[in-house]
Amino acid sequence: MTATRTAIRRLDYSAPAYLIDRVDLTFELEETNTRVLSRLVVKRNPQTPDNVPLVLHGEELVLEYVKVDGAPLGPGTYTQTDSQLTLPAIADTAILEIVTRINPAANTALSGLYVSAGNFITQCEAEGFRRITFYLDRPDVMAKFTTTIIADKNKYPVLLSNGNRVGSGSMDKNRHWVKWVDPFKKPSYLFALVAGKLVSLTDSFVTASGRNVALEIYVEPGNIDKCHHAMAAAKKSMKWDEDRFGLEYDLDAYMIVATADFNMGAMENKGLNVFNTKYVLARPDTATDADFDGIDSVVAHEYFHNWTGNRVTCRDWFQLSLKEGLTVYRDQEFSSDLGSRAVQRIQNVRNLREAQFAEDAGPQAHPVRPDEYQEINNFYTWTVYEKGAEVVRMYATLLGRDGFRRGMDLYFKRHDGHAVTCDDFRAAMADANEADLDQFGRWYQQAGTPVLEVEGVYDDAAHTYTLTVRQHTPATPGQPEKLPLHIPFAIGLLDRRGQELPLRLAHEPIAQLVADSTSRVLELRKEVETFTFVDVPCQPVPSLLRDFSAPVKLVYGYSDDELVFLIAHDNDAFARWEAANTYASNLLKSAYHALGHGEAVVVPPQFVEAFGKLLTNDHIDPALVALMLELPSETALFEALNDVDPTRIHNARQLVKQALARELRATFLAVYQQLNDGATYRYDGESVAKRSLKNVCLDYLSELDDPMIAELLGNQYRRADNMTDRLAALQALAQRNDGETYLADFGNVWQDDALVMDKWFSLQATSSRVGALSRVQALMQHPAFSIKNPNKVRALINAFCMRNPVHFHALDGYGYAFAADRIIELDKLNPQIAARMASSFNRWTKLEPVRRTLMKGELERIAGEAGLSGDTFEIVSKALAD
Ligand code: TRP
Ligand code: ZN
Repeated sequence: MTATRTAIRRLDYSAPAYLIDRVDLTFELEETNTRVLSRLVVKRNPQTPDNVPLVLHGEELVLEYVKVDGAPLGPGTYTQTDSQLTLPAIADTAILEIVTRINPAANTALSGLYVSAGNFITQCEAEGFRRITFYLDRPDVMAKFTTTIIADKNKYPVLLSNGNRVGSGSMDKNRHWVKWVDPFKKPSYLFALVAGKLVSLTDSFVTASGRNVALEIYVEPGNIDKCHHAMAAAKKSMKWDEDRFGLEYDLDAYMIVATADFNMGAMENKGLNVFNTKYVLARPDTATDADFDGIDSVVAHEYFHNWTGNRVTCRDWFQLSLKEGLTVYRDQEFSSDLGSRAVQRIQNVRNLREAQFAEDAGPQAHPVRPDEYQEINNFYTWTVYEKGAEVVRMYATLLGRDGFRRGMDLYFKRHDGHAVTCDDFRAAMADANEADLDQFGRWYQQAGTPVLEVEGVYDDAAHTYTLTVRQHTPATPGQPEKLPLHIPFAIGLLDRRGQELPLRLAHEPIAQLVADSTSRVLELRKEVETFTFVDVPCQPVPSLLRDFSAPVKLVYGYSDDELVFLIAHDNDAFARWEAANTYASNLLKSAYHALGHGEAVVVPPQFVEAFGKLLTNDHIDPALVALMLELPSETALFEALNDVDPTRIHNARQLVKQALARELRATFLAVYQQLNDGATYRYDGESVAKRSLKNVCLDYLSELDDPMIAELLGNQYRRADNMTDRLAALQALAQRNDGETYLADFGNVWQDDALVMDKWFSLQATSSRVGALSRVQALMQHPAFSIKNPNKVRALINAFCMRNPVHFHALDGYGYAFAADRIIELDKLNPQIAARMASSFNRWTKLEPVRRTLMKGELERIAGEAGLSGDTFEIVSKALAD
């Protein structure tokens, strides 16, 4: 929690002066006083000159002693600060023995070794290991670890660490020990230890080469019946990584531990993944379809890290996207292969635009591979993860599926067992395909979302169609000028009847026209590029940026008629959804401006008709229809406007939604009733798709003040045999006057289920009904709430700040003041969580002047707090500099 105010720079990287070959750890676990004995085999890096002292990282440690080759170091021979231990130079190699004491019970930051529900848990990424013992806590120092855990037998029957279990036994004072050996070299951020009263669901997996792997999911007693989905996800992930990338698991056991107290989603520690309970525990009556999806993605993600992150790791933290962007891409592909590729893509893009595009346009904008940071924990961002995944996806788009696989194979062949860089990954992709990816490297260097301005001109006489594409990337903090990027730009052309036209560029021979030539990836490299297609029989409608082939903003002046046409005909699911999204977004923006001028909001009949047709179209996957009918979110609109009044956005969106509900009442009702078939809950693609459309219909209908709809909502709430339907009904009820009794019932029934209570907190925190802030304040006193638990904080406080625009942005400024108070309070307990909450003030310059001034005032108040953590300081000071 040291408040570092100095930046670490990527270009300052230098290789470690010392290396560590072996680590032997012995933990004697006590809640408030744990003893850690560390034996390190240290050697001087051959490149290091003589007499360079050995500087180890260490924070909040009580040092008992250090011995070098068995001899205790006297007080004058080493120096200790609050972040470092400096030892005399080592000639060649030495054995260091270090004993430290730590207090896991007092660790509210949840970084290092901490206590959760009476169990011991570690979280070492990125720099938590230095809160356990003195070490070279940087990812390019890779060592083989052995871990012995000693603890009370009754309180901690289960003792886990990385690798394989090699021995165990009993000791005095009712204690026992277990010893673990991890045969793979790893950086300290992948170390893990878990001890406690846990039970496990076990299973096994036989790898392609015939090795048997034990699968174990550890949870608190009473939760085994909620582990089956996660176990199935683990097995599917193992199989998929073999099939798609030829990658097998490499240890005798793969363990997952679920904990309720966790700063993030999950962590890929070698052989011993630690998960937030949110991404493990699920049963149809407690978890929604989205929760089940989330578990599939996160289990896959952590499992896939075993190769992309663990076997091949990052040289330094600037390379974080090397493992995160790649692993997100891999988990997205897993979900696409096992479910609906189109639905997966649209959801990923929607999320990228709402979160990452906003980040890239704000004070924290940074490249996928950042150039500097103050606190690395602030760089686990949408940009590093989601834009990083888009960058990886572009390799696959440019090189093709087989070319991408060749690149991956070469990457592992070259770098297995090493700590490498994003440039090494790009070089493997280029070399395996003899491709020129030099310019592509700019995707790692330049922040900001590129804009593509596209024009199409049809020449009637020549039967040619010419696309002109102009690219530019806006300035971002520290990067005033940008260079053109290498961009894959996928397109198609539709004729008047909606048929795809074969595509041939002016210089291409006819022979190049193959059956599937109706979709093309154009490669953009220059600021302006033109492409002339020949033999185009009539004026086409272009289908642009198909499958969202690059993370850019497309500007093309589609008319409403063209959008309606694409909604009806585009074969590319993403482009089709995008047409609906653009159409709705244009309508909402004009509704917003109408309200600003005191004018009425009108929904044109053509719009109503297009939505009505979608609703009754049996040829499209109901999940896609559901996605197309969902109006762009208030967050999406916020990003698309300037001098924003968030209340007016809310009102405009509500008026449009209500108009659609009124106009299409009969259709929504008919579709709802047809889909509400009373079938027993099943989690499979078809059932999930149908439920999603059913609940979108319900959501529109709930806007109608009509006793029949009230009854329908009540019935769905009471009769549902699953959480997806029950929560959908409750969500709608919570916005109505008749909602209170249902909310009370839900809170009562689920009071002992922490994850379900999170849903209950969020529902109330995001309600636009009057009094939301005082309700949130009251709920902070609820027995199920705790400010020390990140899930609770996210469910109640972050939900209010990020997903309740009307009340967070209330003109009296109380929403902002409340958020600032909580940031200051949390900063003393858990800086990582406080800093994330502080980013809810990032977009203050986009607001209209009154709110802008109020928000700025709160940012200044936070910045002025004495003893503010480096985490929160970095976020707040960057926001103020905007
Ligand atoms: N590596 C983890 C993942 O993406 C992220 C993570 C888990 C993390 N816990 C953390 C990052 C704590 C920073 C701090 O899978
Ligand atoms: Zn990850």
